[in-house]
This record gives sequence, structure tokens and C-alpha cells, in this order.
Amino acid sequence: MTVHFIGAGPGAPDLLTLRGRDLIAASPVCLYAGSLVPEAVLAHCPPGARIVNTAPLSLDAIIDEIAAAHARGEDVARLHSGDLSVWSAMGEQLRRLRALGIPYDVTPGVPSFAAAAATLGAELTLPGIAQSVVLTRTSGRASAMPEGERLAAFAATGATLAIHLSVHVLETVVAELTPHYGADCPVAVVWRASWPDERVVRATLGTLATEVGAEMERTALILVGRALGQEGFDESRLYAGDYDRRYRPVGTAPRFPESA
Ligand SMILES: C[S@@+](CC[C@H](N)C(=O)[O-])C[C@H]1O[C@@H](n2cnc3c(N)ncnc32)[C@H](O)[C@@H]1O
Repeated sequence: MTVHFIGAGPGAPDLLTLRGRDLIAASPVCLYAGSLVPEAVLAHCPPGARIVNTAPLSLDAIIDEIAAAHARGEDVARLHSGDLSVWSAMGEQLRRLRALGIPYDVTPGVPSFAAAAATLGAELTLPGIAQSVVLTRTSGRASAMPEGERLAAFAATGATLAIHLSVHVLETVVAELTPHYGADCPVAVVWRASWPDERVVRATLGTLATEVGAEMERTALILVGRALGQEGFDESRLYAGDYDRRYRPVGTAPRFPESA
């Protein structure tokens, strides 16, 4: 028996990995974080599966469900939105499972920041403009921010910021970032990226607050940085004709690994 933690992706049911789909289909129990995991993903559960929305459950109750499946010898598909490496509450569940000696594995998913960047058609790391992406958030009721992780501290680096769980405090975010990026810095808010009702607002830090409607609450990402909407960046050296590299030494035809 194994608990399969599976990243269910940002919302579109076909943004689930094939491995994740197959594990869901092979597990007689499915626990899913109902606030963000789309119901369509649950269509992969086998007939007769025990399907439990964990949104209203406590951690103790979730672990009880898993322990009961373990006692029956039944695999569990445990679904969280996006990828599990950020803001999934997976860490505390894994710690309990280790203490109970219940086996688990982890299958990654498409994170919401990647889905939002895809919606924008944006590379977040442009040569000479930004080479780092900071995945962050602001303090919430469930989790306070550690002292060193203030938005202004990240903004001081000039990196592209992908700010989660914060659209409800948009004005505070803009006020903290503007001194570092400037009021003309491009920003985008992507609401429900990859869902059928997805919405996008592109603006600058100076104009954003007036352009984001009240309906864009909760499931939205704020992307900020000079890499957004930028045309004046250098081309990467990777594909430059005079760049000597392993698979295309200068002056030769492309060379590929023998197995290719
Ligand atoms: C609890 S976190 C989960 C993050 C998730 N584990 C991931 O990999 O993206 C929820 C936050 O992620 C962002 N988010 C999740 N899905 C999203 C989507 N489809 N579009 C935009 N933002 C999304 C929002 O900022 C939301 O408040």
C-alpha cells in the first residue's frame, strides 16, 4: 500500500501528468483538496473509488482516512493543486506518515506560476533583464511570513516575482514594490490560469490597482518584473552561430549523442 501524492496542476484537467493520471486510476481511494482541484480530474478514479474532499477536514481527520486505507491495504491518490513543492501542506502530511510508517511517493504537477506564464506567453528569465524567479506570497491567516522574506527584500534584487495568495492585498503589494521596480514596471494578474473562465490583466505597477476588478479575488497570481512585456532584451548565447558548444562545435555540422 502506498499514498501517492500527486500534483493535480493549475486547473485544466489535461494539465495533469500521465503518471498522475495512471496513479489516480489505480488507487481505490482518492483524497483531494477540493477548493482548487478540478472535479474533472476525479473522472480518472476507478469505478467505486472512495473519493473524499479534504477541504473541510482537519489534518487529524485526513491522516485517519489514510490510516484506514493503509489498514485495508488500499492505495491512496492524494491530490493537491499545482505542484506539491509549494504551499500544498504536503510536508506536514509526510511527517505524520513517516511517524506511522506508511509508505508514500510524490508525483510533481504543473505549478500555477508556470501556467500563468504560459497564458501570458512570457519567459520570466530574459537575458540581461532577469535571471531569477521568486515564488513568494504575503502573510495570510494560516501562515505568517518569516522576517527575512519581505516582498521589498525580494524586489531589491530586481528578479521576476510570482506572488501567490495575495491578490486580496493588491494595494499593499503595489506599495511595497513600486519604490524598487518603478511605477512603469510591467505587471500581470492572471486569475484562474488554464480554467475556462481564466482572466488576465496586464498593467504597470502604477495602473494595476484601478484595472483589477473585485471579481479577481482568491485564485490569482501577480507576476511582476521588467521581463514581462519586454522586447529590448539580448538574445541568449545558447543559439548564437559563433557559440562553441558540445553538440555544435563552431564550423561543424550539428553533432548529436549516439543514442539520439
Ligand atoms: C495554496 S496555493 C497552491 C499553489 C500550488 N501548489 C502551485 O503549485 O501553484 C494557492 C495559490 O496559488 C495560486 N494559484 C493556484 N492555481 C492558480 C491558477 N490556476 N491561476 C492563478 N493562480 C493560481 C494563487 O495565488 C492561489 O492563491
